[in-house]
Amino acid sequence: MDKVSNLQRKKYYIETWGCQMNEHDSEKMAGILENIGYIETSTPKEADLIIFNTCLVRENAELKVYGNLGHLKTLKNKKPDMLIAVCGCMMQKKEIRDLIKEKYNHVDIVFGTHNIHKLPELIANARQSSGMIIDVWEDSGDIIEGLPAKRKYGFKAFVNVMHGCNNFCTYCIVPYTRGREKSRLPEDILKEINELAAQGCKEVTLLGQNVNSYGKTLDKKVSFAQLLRMVNEVEGIERIRFTTSHPKDLSDELILAIKECDKICEHIHLPFQAGSNKILKAMNRKYTKEHYLNLIEKIKKAIPGIAITTDIIVGFPGETEEDFEETLDVVKKVRFDSAFTFLYSIRKGTPAAKMENQVPDDIKHKRFQRLLDTIYPISLEINQELKDKVVEVLVEEISKTDKTKVTGRTRTNKVVHFPGDKTLIGKLVKVKITNPKTWTLEGELIN
Ligand code: SAH
Ligand code: SF4
Ligand code: F3S
Repeated sequence: MDKVSNLQRKKYYIETWGCQMNEHDSEKMAGILENIGYIETSTPKEADLIIFNTCLVRENAELKVYGNLGHLKTLKNKKPDMLIAVCGCMMQKKEIRDLIKEKYNHVDIVFGTHNIHKLPELIANARQSSGMIIDVWEDSGDIIEGLPAKRKYGFKAFVNVMHGCNNFCTYCIVPYTRGREKSRLPEDILKEINELAAQGCKEVTLLGQNVNSYGKTLDKKVSFAQLLRMVNEVEGIERIRFTTSHPKDLSDELILAIKECDKICEHIHLPFQAGSNKILKAMNRKYTKEHYLNLIEKIKKAIPGIAITTDIIVGFPGETEEDFEETLDVVKKVRFDSAFTFLYSIRKGTPAAKMENQVPDDIKHKRFQRLLDTIYPISLEINQELKDKVVEVLVEEISKTDKTKVTGRTRTNKVVHFPGDKTLIGKLVKVKITNPKTWTLEGELIN
């Protein structure tokens, strides 16, 4: 379309909270909207349709959505023709839908995680109706294939390999918002990746809440390791990543696949959540500290130089000082490249929310700080070993803080900044690390 007709096209703005799963759902919604003639805007004020794709995993994620929704009221008053839609994990909860209905009546459309493909229909209905349209599906067990996606980058892409989760960790709301675990057929996944490769995509990240249990729901069983080996054969793809792995299902077969497949990046994200066996049991994680440490040892031995990252929760109900010290012990023994750390957040409807021995906030916060003080120096030490080394970087964008630099990622998923311009975006280049820091690396391009 030319510029003049672009002016007449309706504009959408999507704000996304939560994990990569949600980010990728937003890419699909963008794809759907562009198919029906919408164009994207980065300014909510200019939008004809605003979508909030929400997350329920922790209370602060939830509160941010209410705050932002409140702010939209003034905008909607000024621009009554604008449509406001709220979707994502929060909308799968009836109490939250009721709250939206009661307190945020400037919202036009409410839908959930299982019916994003219905967006065009919902928009058409909302244009004709004055009331709020609420259409949230329970998990039907089906996977909707063939949805378009407008991906953020051309050279790297998320690809769902499975949806939902069957693990019911006692703190976690995800199985309730995303439904039961179901795997996509390998042929559907490979078709998508082949198409991406044909369009110039170099890196794929395979997504699932627990990718290690991929294939269990298929009639013809395929393991995740077998799937990875198939993806490794796709011409044009140069890097393969995947997330998230669950320690209880991580097999020797998978470790061997990572070791043997040249395109699989040397990075594994393996959340351990807590170090104490008592807490792990209460979390329903189904592995022990010893099992986790043993796994890490096997992985490090098989794939030297692999980066290991993790998720950790502080202050799960019943966590004592001794329990917390077990968490610190795992951090010191494994030496993570980096870690996502969370204060335990009560999620209504999960078993842990009803546990009586909740940890007081001040104790949680003190432990949290001690955890960070343990993680950060280790991250720095690991990164310092990269000084003067040459690494492969996939360049992603112009650096946000310094326009004379570009930002990219190593195979080990570390962020690197180095002098360069936009011609490098999407290219795989060699960079010499000159200044390793705790969270990022600085370097220079090697010709
Ligand atoms: N499926 C992935 C991640 C799901 S959510 C996995 O199993 O690892 C991402 C992270 O959020 C979790 O790993 C956990 O560390 C954290 N998380 C989930 N629920 C939480 C809660 N109620 N309070 C604090 N952190 C939580
Ligand atoms: Fe939540 Fe556990 Fe499932 Fe991860 S594996 S999504 S933490 S229930
Ligand atoms: Fe949040 Fe839903 Fe992901 S609750 S973490 S957006 S699966």
